[in-house]
Amino acid sequence: MPKKKKIIGIVLAAGKGKRMHSSVPKVFHSVSGIPMILLVINALKKTGIDEIIVVASEKERYKEILPENIKIIVQTKPLGTGHAVSCAKRLIKKFNGRVLIACADMPLVKSDTVKRLIRRHTEDSADCTLLTGWFEFPEGYGRVLRDENWNIVGIGEDKDISKKGKEIKEVNSGMYCFSSKELLGVLPLLNKSNKQKEFYLTDVVGLLLKKNIKISSLAVRDSGEIMGVNSRKDLAQANKIMNRRIIEEHMKRGVTVVDPDSTYIDIRVKIGMDTVINPLTVIDGEVNIGSGCVIGPFTHLRDKTVIKDKAEIGNFVEVKKSTVGKHTKSKHLTYLGDTTLGTHVNVGAGTVVANYDGKHKHPTVIKDKAFIGSHSTLVAPVTIGKGAITGAGCVVLSGRNVPSNSIVVGVPARVLKKNAEKR
Ligand code: UD1
Ligand code: CA
Repeated sequence: MPKKKKIIGIVLAAGKGKRMHSSVPKVFHSVSGIPMILLVINALKKTGIDEIIVVASEKERYKEILPENIKIIVQTKPLGTGHAVSCAKRLIKKFNGRVLIACADMPLVKSDTVKRLIRRHTEDSADCTLLTGWFEFPEGYGRVLRDENWNIVGIGEDKDISKKGKEIKEVNSGMYCFSSKELLGVLPLLNKSNKQKEFYLTDVVGLLLKKNIKISSLAVRDSGEIMGVNSRKDLAQANKIMNRRIIEEHMKRGVTVVDPDSTYIDIRVKIGMDTVINPLTVIDGEVNIGSGCVIGPFTHLRDKTVIKDKAEIGNFVEVKKSTVGKHTKSKHLTYLGDTTLGTHVNVGAGTVVANYDGKHKHPTVIKDKAFIGSHSTLVAPVTIGKGAITGAGCVVLSGRNVPSNSIVVGVPARVLKKNAEKR
């Protein structure tokens, strides 16, 4: 017999996502460069959950973005969160343990919070533990209903509760821990008698209480963490909160970010100590920046870029899929794509690497101590040799590699001087 698993995670990711007005599933929209659904899965994974199941609206599209070891269950009709969990019933039945359920549209939740929820569930010997939070403006969220002794008596959905109920500021986050046996016992009892004509997972709470089952709760310290993303407006807000979180992490590790409000840093970016990020800088994708660099203002660093120690990238410079060597400078009005730059290179203002011929992308190599004159155009594939100089406004044609220590000028660029004085 297979070993029984102790805890499984179910991520609810189907549904219409109507309020997003999008042709792609809502939970595929990214926050700080990562689809929401993956952020939630990552938070769950870090807690050591044995197995994660995703309830999706279709198989193929989800399979493309989900890690291989995630099981996908298809909910063909979006009949509500309760119905979504019922779709995974067969898998829940296979083991006897705890089930952690999370909505995939809560991208800001931290793994520590998930861990604390599981711990609370275990310590309280509860059969259902809710993650809740407090919002000044709780519109749209399910409210936690309590009696005068502060015992939970149910969850009221925003569309269904009374005017008085709407004043409650404690909300349901959309994350819960259940004992599998108790959950399975009440799922078949859910019905659609509510304003949205859906099977609400939240009705499970009331049903469990009828069976005298122990319900516990944990309130998040920082309510921002449990925001649900339902619209483009929510998405922008989630991006803003996550961006601030990422920047503060970098600052803690010794990076200066001069103006966090005008700086965007993707979650996958790594930055070394004493690097300064000036205002209006956008860093997208997998970018690795060394120590003591100066980036910006107005810089765009894109996916698969490495900036080595003490390099400087400045105003209106875009760098994509490139490596910039130590002490190399590119400070003004430049595009570097598919380029490998050595150390101590100087890239003059207005330099453009023409890496795309309309069909394919080609590489450019600029070796140590080369000096690229202002407004040079380097047509890839091409190599600029060590210590070589390109004259202002020259066009180096593809395949016309510039020898080390030579000077080239003109359009197309020709060698003016070989073995110029070593730089
Ligand atoms: C839900 C909760 C609400 C809570 C809020 C937190 C219910 C009934 N309500 O409301 O109490 O305060 O989240 O953000 O659960 N989904 C499916 N299948 C469906 C419907 C939804 O998989 O048929 C998924 C969605 O992809 C989404 C999640 O479940 O990730 C939540 O659904 P959503 O419609 O956003 O619920 P809310 O109205 O926000
Ligand atoms: Ca939601």
